[in-house]
Amino acid sequence: MAAEEFGLAMGVGSQRAALENPEMEDSFTVVREHAPPHAFLCGNLGIIQLRDKGIEWADKAVEMIDAQALCIHLNPLQEAIQPEGDHDAAGCLDALQELCSSCRYPVIVKETGCGISRECARQLFAAGASAVDVGGLGGTSWAAVEQFRAKNPLQQALGLHFADWGGIPTAVSVAEATLAGGPVIATGGLNSGTDIAKAMALGAGLGGMALALLPPAMDGYQSLCDKIHQIQTEIRMSCYLTGSRNPSELRNIRKYITGITGEMLQYEENKL
Ligand SMILES: Cc1cc2nc3c(=O)[nH]c(=O)nc-3n(C[C@H](O)[C@H](O)[C@H](O)COP(=O)(O)O)c2cc1C
Repeated sequence: MAAEEFGLAMGVGSQRAALENPEMEDSFTVVREHAPPHAFLCGNLGIIQLRDKGIEWADKAVEMIDAQALCIHLNPLQEAIQPEGDHDAAGCLDALQELCSSCRYPVIVKETGCGISRECARQLFAAGASAVDVGGLGGTSWAAVEQFRAKNPLQQALGLHFADWGGIPTAVSVAEATLAGGPVIATGGLNSGTDIAKAMALGAGLGGMALALLPPAMDGYQSLCDKIHQIQTEIRMSCYLTGSRNPSELRNIRKYITGITGEMLQYEENKL
């Protein structure tokens, strides 16, 4: 409802559950029922399920919610921590390429907490991805979630150990993925309109939030609308105060990139 009211895009969670068990479809179709017909809705499927179940599942996910696009999520860290997880990524890029070359909807490839490097973004765009959603380090961590869901001490220890391991911070990932040339969506720890404005200044075309919108959504529809209104106002003020006529112009403003983010990007630049 809020996506429809504010003209936002919204992605559902992994539809694997409903594809395996059609009784659960209602919990996804409800989204389109409440956002007809305009809201830009994205379906969601893991790249492992795409590889194992094929394009048929991808098409079904899109049809289920009458989606305008499909998100294919990457979560190798989470899978690696889960004892029952898939620990073999062979064939995933080929499966993505096959999907992108045959489907009629845009495919967005998204990480879920570890970020996407420039090299990885290049591979994804070469495979036909329409956009890359970086899901960078600094926001929701599925390694940390696994620590709490752990069924045994090893899984718990791995979740804790890898909670912030090796991931690419969102700001760095946005700047890097942008160099790959395609559209980039910034996610991973964005909490405000100014966070979105900064991500757009670094090259992102869109910013996304999951965790930041959950507490107001749990509180109720009005709280969620108030939060979104605040975020939009923060973006508008960021544009105004930087002399940008619209969010796209934020990309052209002068940026100072300091601290560890600056060091990481400098390191990358020196390698070029
Ligand atoms: C409760 C929750 C459930 C999520 N479930 C999925 C999912 O099923 N599939 C997916 O691709 N991403 C999922 N995400 C990840 C988000 O789409 C997004 O990539 C990430 O959380 C963005 O960072 P943020 O939460 O720091 O804003 C989920 C996030 C949260 C908070």
